[in-house]
Amino acid sequence: MYVLGIETSCDETAVAIDHADRGLISHTLFSQIAIHNEYGGVVPELASRDHVRKLIPLIKQVLSDSGLNPEEISGIAYTAGPGLMGALLVGAATARSLAWAWNIPAIAVHHMEGHLLAPMLEDNPPSFPFVALLISGGHTLLIEVTGIGDYQLLGESLDDAAGEAFDKTAKLLGLDYPGGPALAELAKTGQPHLKFPRPMTDRPGLDFSFSGLKTFTLNAFNNSRQTEQDKADIAHAFQQAMAETLSIKCKRALQQTGLKTLVAAGGVSANREIRSQLEQMCAKQQAEIYFPRPEFCTDNGAMIAYVGCQRLLAGQSQDLTIFARPRWPIDELLGV
Ligand code: KG4
Ligand code: ZN
Repeated sequence: MYVLGIETSCDETAVAIDHADRGLISHTLFSQIAIHNEYGGVVPELASRDHVRKLIPLIKQVLSDSGLNPEEISGIAYTAGPGLMGALLVGAATARSLAWAWNIPAIAVHHMEGHLLAPMLEDNPPSFPFVALLISGGHTLLIEVTGIGDYQLLGESLDDAAGEAFDKTAKLLGLDYPGGPALAELAKTGQPHLKFPRPMTDRPGLDFSFSGLKTFTLNAFNNSRQTEQDKADIAHAFQQAMAETLSIKCKRALQQTGLKTLVAAGGVSANREIRSQLEQMCAKQQAEIYFPRPEFCTDNGAMIAYVGCQRLLAGQSQDLTIFARPRWPIDELLGV
């Protein structure tokens, strides 16, 4: 069974085909970074317009790369939310229309479930149950995952998401959008003499808050001479604080649930320092850790095709209504 997956929730147009037994067949992606770069962030209307331009050619490309005909596709999965409304609607309308034309089911996929299950695309996937840390531009979530579709929220960010905190700090330091990777690069030349707070680690619970760290970083920046070395030192201290905070909370989540497997996914999980601190913590806890390959940490079509395939195997699909939900808490997944 082949499923086509479409991702258009933000600034990447991505398409992939997944097979129930053979796994990922083909995938492609167009990143809009160059389009939004000069504005310092994603401009929603420009994102939607570019998805309109790129989506059909990318669908044609994965079909031709895979050597498959439309008649061989059993379902079309698309990101229905959360994300930018206009951007989501491009994917939703295209997926539904194609599904109708090809007379196959369409599957509305939650973007964060895509990130959550992205490590399943690897050769050595994690087995259930596990704790998942999802760190993206819009979300910071700790989830207990018992099986596909069986998710319990353990903790989340009360304010900024991890990626948002990286992006805002990067902007403060004068770095280009998207800030996360640029900040990580700058941090390499930073000296480790500054110590930033590890928010909400001194009290029980699994929620996160990054707005205080953001203010602390702003004050450190304003109180410095703002030289290139100062900026690198601040980037380094910020990244260390993020990595250690995430690691402390993940350790707590493993201890609280008694689970011995951690999965980290979402754009920020591409960060080398965060990966390394999580790996060290898991080694000490005698727990196993799994990440998607870096290109599947950030937005991609493969994770959407995978979730669609799993849902279709479980007999789940939706009617012809074009379903897009910009705000969609992951614990409401069963309400699709
Ligand atoms: O998952 P994703 O591609 O999109 C959303 O669903 O939001 O995540 C994008 C976020 C951005 O905030 C970006 O700056 C961050 O992931 N990011 C990183 C790195 N690569 C991407 N943050 C820190 N270090 C990185 N290497
Ligand atoms: Zn994402």
